[in-house]
Amino acid sequence: MTYSVGVVGATGQVGREFLRILEEGERADLPISSLRLFASQRSAGKRITVRGQEHIVECAEPDPALFAGLDFVVSAIGDEEARVYSPVIAKAGALNVDKSNAWRMDPTVPLVVPEVNPEAARGHHGIIAGPNCSTNSRMKAASPSGEHSFSEWRSFCLGPISMTMLLGRGDYSRPSMLFAAALAMQFRIGRI
Ligand SMILES: NC(=O)c1ccc[n+]([C@@H]2O[C@H](COP(=O)([O-])OP(=O)(O)OC[C@H]3O[C@@H](n4cnc5c(N)ncnc54)[C@H](OP(=O)(O)O)[C@@H]3O)[C@@H](O)[C@H]2O)c1
Repeated sequence: MTYSVGVVGATGQVGREFLRILEEGERADLPISSLRLFASQRSAGKRITVRGQEHIVECAEPDPALFAGLDFVVSAIGDEEARVYSPVIAKAGALNVDKSNAWRMDPTVPLVVPEVNPEAARGHHGIIAGPNCSTNSRMKAASPSGEHSFSEWRSFCLGPISMTMLLGRGDYSRPSMLFAAALAMQFRIGRI
């Protein structure tokens, strides 16, 4: 079985990370028959190569016809945009996995961390939400079934879990990630 996959927000921080995972991450073996990339009008026409194939970024429109034929659509766009696009994508018959904050508190939308409650995804009505990234990683550690779960850590008599999150956001994402990388480098060479 192969899948037709779409990514809305493919040019953003999260969208590009998703494409990197498709190319070289754990899901590099996901059988994708076609991949379509969407962004705002600003990036429409850009060329992005994924798995050796060049894709032209399409201008996203909240029109179900645009998403017809897709099995899955990952959306990594702002909350307001997700509130518009998710129902449109679901109406087109695709399953939308949304990375924004738009649907996380909606009781009709499953909030899924694949390593913790994958079964919840079965109750979807066309949209699946994922928690915020810092919650996501904490949930994996705290889950009793996690590979390196909190209970397992406790059995090694470790103290509290301490986490540092460096989040990129919107137009500031790229400069702030460069700043974080520079800080990390200074730390490694012992300057701070
Ligand atoms: N950054 C993080 O660490 C992180 C982690 C987890 C979740 N999230 C969430 O994921 C979402 C995306 O975050 P991000 O950091 O990737 O944002 P970002 O870098 O600003 O990227 C936003 C993406 O959305 C597209 N876009 C903007 N307006 C649009 C519209 N009207 N129609 C279609 N596409 C549109 C942009 O296209 P253009 O290139 O054309 O502008 C770009 O591809 C947010 O909801 C964020 O809260 C972020």
